[in-house]
Amino acid sequence: MRIRGFKKSDVYYLVEILKLNGQYEYPAIEGPDAMNEVANCEAAVFLVAEVKGKPCGFIKAVYDGSRAIIHLLSVHPDYQRRGIGSTLVDAVCTELFHRGAPTVSATVTEQSVGFWEKKGFRRTNALIVLREDLKKISAASPNNR
Ligand SMILES: CC(C)(COP(=O)(O)OP(=O)(O)OC[C@H]1O[C@@H](n2cnc3c(N)ncnc32)[C@H](O)[C@@H]1OP(=O)(O)O)[C@@H](O)C(=O)NCCC(=O)NCCS
Repeated sequence: MRIRGFKKSDVYYLVEILKLNGQYEYPAIEGPDAMNEVANCEAAVFLVAEVKGKPCGFIKAVYDGSRAIIHLLSVHPDYQRRGIGSTLVDAVCTELFHRGAPTVSATVTEQSVGFWEKKGFRRTNALIVLREDLKKISAASPNNR
């Protein structure tokens, strides 16, 4: 297994992995265009695990100079429980540390929290909330450009 940075040619494989894992609810956030945008974002860390040249898992995180957050981790179902998720988390934490991050948080699901606890993360009281109608907010805002 090899960990490397995201390449444009990974998109098809990564979308497939998300679909198989039921993580493709928001194509605007996780789809091909979004992946390419993340790859171009300096605050983002976007790593891919490949086995025999084929992407089999990936991780995305962001560090804004203060907080570091892992916001997506996905391993192809055929490759789970082989240490790939664990290796991706270690790799992203290493990169975040080198960028100056003092800690790292992760947005996780109830089904995967056991994995994160094994990786040394602890539960907090934080919850993720979501609002999708940014266009409406923007139209009503005095800040609108
Ligand atoms: C959760 C996920 C990323 C784990 O990746 P993985 O490559 O299967 O995990 P690893 O093989 O590195 O597992 C590391 C350890 O965590 C354990 N583990 C893996 N998945 C687990 C889970 N869902 N719950 C509890 N423990 C889990 C493994 O048994 C292993 O334990 P060990 O060190 O005692 O042997 C992967 O199963 C996945 O992509 N799931 C679907 C999407 C998802 O839930 N993503 C995370 C939400 S952001």
